[in-house]
Amino acid sequence: MDGQYLPMSEAKISVLDWGFLHSDATYDTVHVWNGRFFRLNLHLDRFLGGIERLRMNLPYDREEITSILKSCVALSGHKSAYVEMICTRGSSPTFSRDPRQAENRFMAFAVPFGSVANNEQLERGLHVAISETVRIPPKSIDPSIKNYHWLDLVKGLFDAYDMGAETALILDTDGHIAEGPGFNVFIVRDGSLTTPAFGVLPGITRRTVFDLCAEIGLSVAATDVSRAEIKQADEVFVTSTAGGIMPVTRIDEAKIANGKVGPITSRLMNFYWQKHDDPAWSTAVTYP
Ligand SMILES: Cc1ncc(COP(=O)(O)O)c(C=O)c1O
Repeated sequence: MDGQYLPMSEAKISVLDWGFLHSDATYDTVHVWNGRFFRLNLHLDRFLGGIERLRMNLPYDREEITSILKSCVALSGHKSAYVEMICTRGSSPTFSRDPRQAENRFMAFAVPFGSVANNEQLERGLHVAISETVRIPPKSIDPSIKNYHWLDLVKGLFDAYDMGAETALILDTDGHIAEGPGFNVFIVRDGSLTTPAFGVLPGITRRTVFDLCAEIGLSVAATDVSRAEIKQADEVFVTSTAGGIMPVTRIDEAKIANGKVGPITSRLMNFYWQKHDDPAWSTAVTYP
């Protein structure tokens, strides 16, 4: 933060930062597993693309950001970490309301790796509820700019808890399944995979599922996924940097198929973690 590495407790931003006041920020989250970043370049592409589309500027280029992230993880000592890079609009020195006059800010942090699903949930599958909440439409906020517009997702989570579930899926503006708080979703039917195409963050783990499917010859497509289709699926899983590929075995009150983690989900989960020490997919951190 501001050119310094600090303990988390000392990392503070101004309450006047538009990132805080108006969610005027973009960010990305990459993970480190066994001392290696996973697909860092894809995360940097998404982060830098968002900064450009939000008309923000940073005093660091791609190489400098990479080196800051590597040092941040190395100094934290975490071998498996959740690493977030953030660019906020910042604020204007003259309190101007014109966003062009704000001084944009960059910060990054590394904390121990965290997952959407705990170990028990990874083994038996998550219990998900479908909330009636509609994800903020792409015509309002471009979902390919990773953002903190999460009030819809948080409302979805409370709806899910009220329904006795562990997490939520919310809808797109046409009533199809969109995504959940911090994850994309896939369904498997007759050996083929589909994932919602519209109004969702293009997740790096989602993209990774496409790449893994190409390697093992599974068919996968981004298209509309209806509520009926997800409930009739053979298998369902969600994807996030925070946890990878995570099985879902109950939706609302019903089991998915026989209620057990499916074979394609298990195979993709194993393949996903195997890729974490492949130099084509990962980058080493050098610890002091
Ligand atoms: C709204 C939303 N959808 C999907 C995802 C999954 O994206 P990724 O696989 O890049 O972590 C995230 C990640 O935080 C997210 O915030």
